[in-house]
Amino acid sequence: MKRILLSVAALAGAAAFFAFSNAPIAEAAQAQGDVARGQAAFERIGCWACHGHQGQGGSTGPKIAPNPLAFPAFSGFVRTTSGEMPPFTARVLPDQDLRDIHAFLMSVPAAPAVATIPLLQ
Ligand code: HEC
Repeated sequence: MKRILLSVAALAGAAAFFAFSNAPIAEAAQAQGDVARGQAAFERIGCWACHGHQGQGGSTGPKIAPNPLAFPAFSGFVRTTSGEMPPFTARVLPDQDLRDIHAFLMSVPAAPAVATIPLLQ
């Protein structure tokens, strides 16, 4: 009986350990955002219409990738801008979507240096 109790206790301990050890990983993934979901949201919500499909800038919106603003400034701008760009509140653009969009923009690679493109030499 003592043995069974001990192994039950050990199992519970292991379960608690995994529950706690996974929590920070899940939180980190959320904090970083998901690139694929972000790209989908960028298309669905319509950021692309002004900023281009890669955030490269378009006729109406400036370049916002590569090297987007850091997340606090980025999210502050998108939520509260009152200039030419309409603000996107959490009702139309949930926080997680905004984080995912930011992750997508962060993932856009920088353009290669001109000197490395033979056709331009
Ligand atoms: C109707 C066109 C339009 C749409 C749609 C739009 N933007 Fe913009 N965005 C602009 C314009 C124009 C500016 C520059 C205006 C300004 O600075 O006030 C801008 C500026 C920004 C900036 C600030 C860039 C900087 O470096 O200062 C960010 C970030 C941004 N947009 C993100 C987004 C995201 C994310 C979305 C989609 C949720 C989006 N925009 C949708 C037109 C648009």
